[in-house]
Amino acid sequence: MERESADTRNQAPPSGAAIVVDGLTKRFGGRTAFADVTFSVDYGEVFGFLGPNGAGKSTTVRTLGTLLFPTSGSATVAGLALSPANSGEIRRRIAVMPESPGLYLRLSVAENLDFFAGLYGLDDRRTRIERCLRAVNLLDRADDLCRSLSKGLRQRVGLARALLSDPRILFLDEPTSGLDPLAARDVHQLIDRLRNRGVTIFLTTHRLAEAEALCDRVGILNTTLRTIGRPDELRERLFAKTLEVTTRAALTEPDRVFTGLPGVDGWSPGHGPEDCANYVLTITDPDLAAPAVARAVVTEGADLLALKPSRHSLQDVYLQLIDEDVEAQAR
Ligand SMILES: Nc1ncnc2c1ncn2[C@@H]1O[C@H](COP(=O)(O)OP(=O)(O)OP(=O)(O)O)[C@@H](O)[C@H]1O
Ligand SMILES: [Mg+2]
Repeated sequence: MERESADTRNQAPPSGAAIVVDGLTKRFGGRTAFADVTFSVDYGEVFGFLGPNGAGKSTTVRTLGTLLFPTSGSATVAGLALSPANSGEIRRRIAVMPESPGLYLRLSVAENLDFFAGLYGLDDRRTRIERCLRAVNLLDRADDLCRSLSKGLRQRVGLARALLSDPRILFLDEPTSGLDPLAARDVHQLIDRLRNRGVTIFLTTHRLAEAEALCDRVGILNTTLRTIGRPDELRERLFAKTLEVTTRAALTEPDRVFTGLPGVDGWSPGHGPEDCANYVLTITDPDLAAPAVARAVVTEGADLLALKPSRHSLQDVYLQLIDEDVEAQAR
């Protein structure tokens, strides 16, 4: 958004967490959408909520957005306990961009936004609508019927609608699903601008690179919460740090070369290109290990071709955890 919002500008963040979820469970008859989920999100955080299809992400969003009531457990959203009595006030403090935009297809883009702005009791509707349409690059389509818009464009109208009320907490359920790469990048930039204004963002996505780039912390849900933390924390928790060493010819005594070096815990043969030798070292600290390993290899008289610290992505973390679940289900 190019202009700062009138409602959130210069306001100190409220005290306490934006979202607190404690042992929350939602069942539909015999089907459990999510179970015993506990986490919290701070004000100003961009929190990513990841998980496979059917993991319970959208149901969590709808529950925290007061559109569904939980089966058990409790939650606080924007400082208010999730309860039927508080639903109206919670909805005034948050906005939800649902999975499907739910627009009136026979109304134009601007008419849709005007209808929802009226429903939310918002003032200054024309300026708000213009600002939100500009934020999602749709100003030139304001008078088009929603029926005539492509899937991605409808998605962007849904995002504009969620921005109308200048919420402090914004739930975005797959905001970039169906968007082309440029439109997705625009949404990423918009999320960054909202973050800079102190808006708390709860983002579900299947784009793991997007989550890694945008989110302060992520939670991975597969009916139960599998893990939560900063992307780099999750990497460290799940994967040993390694240093891959490639030399032109095999070392005659690799055990003697690598054992006892600072920051190096152990080594094993690696799988490099056929015409060179490859070793994978388990390390505690790459800054300590890499120079020591380089020196040791060179002292040995070997040609050092590459020294590569391990770099696991959020996708590696996700696949590892969800794969474990699939294997556990198969047992
Ligand atoms: N209204 C409903 N009635 C019955 N079951 C439901 C209902 N809504 C969701 N479910 C079930 O709850 C589970 C979680 O669904 P949910 O939509 O929350 O998953 P999701 O993580 O958002 O998946 P996706 O990535 O496909 O969007 C699924 O098994 C789904 O079929
Ligand atoms: Mg979903």
